[in-house]
Amino acid sequence: MRRKLIAANWKLNGSTAMASGLVGDIQDGLAELDNGVEVVIIPPAIYATLVNAALAESETSVGIQDVSRWNKGAYTGEVSAPMAHDVGCRYALVGHSERRELLGETDTLIADKVDNALSASLNVILCVGETEAQREAGAQDRVVGEQLKQGLSRVSDADWLRVVVAYEPVWAIGTGRTATAEDAQSVHAVIRQTLNGMGAPAEEMTLLYGGSVKPDNAKELFAQPDIDGGLIGGASLSAPDFLAICRAA
Ligand code: G3P
Repeated sequence: MRRKLIAANWKLNGSTAMASGLVGDIQDGLAELDNGVEVVIIPPAIYATLVNAALAESETSVGIQDVSRWNKGAYTGEVSAPMAHDVGCRYALVGHSERRELLGETDTLIADKVDNALSASLNVILCVGETEAQREAGAQDRVVGEQLKQGLSRVSDADWLRVVVAYEPVWAIGTGRTATAEDAQSVHAVIRQTLNGMGAPAEEMTLLYGGSVKPDNAKELFAQPDIDGGLIGGASLSAPDFLAICRAA
């Protein structure tokens, strides 16, 4: 039975007041979920300890939005995978398209980060997805397949079930333009086939969709056979919207 998962990517949003308030607003609703969905809150790294403490009595996990390719030393400003685990994070987002696009993260760097996160006992959520130009060229299956093969190139057989893949078409992120459930399912099926070809237990792995998931489209997306949950951006900053999406899983 694949685990259902909803992850909240707060991106670069928050303050101590907002983080405490938002967690306070979703906590009871999360505790009342009866659909077996696992929920992960991924705040800016600086608030991970605060959010983890606020969620200490709940089953909700905390994640980190990125980890360094290094684990310690003279790397000013970096946050390492062991440090994330040390403060209670259980998931690491790796390879988000915003980091690929804005910070030039390469598949090689992403593979290093995946390796570091798994070695630090974190679960990994690897983000993959095509740009609008690649979608218009019909290249989404090839692009996503390559991102998987490169980004997960060093995952050992023992670690596959600690890897989650999030398909986030870049043209749907933050735009209000959600992929249709059929288009999303089509790429998710390719992801599962690709993972299978890599020797991973693909049928048991959790695949998330991300890109303008909202309360009014979540149910249809999550009903797709190869979509096991969502990676939520903007809607995760609204307690009612995020809870509605968690209930739809
Ligand atoms: O990582 C999730 C994010 O990229 C999706 O953002 O605002 O389209 O839900 P949004």
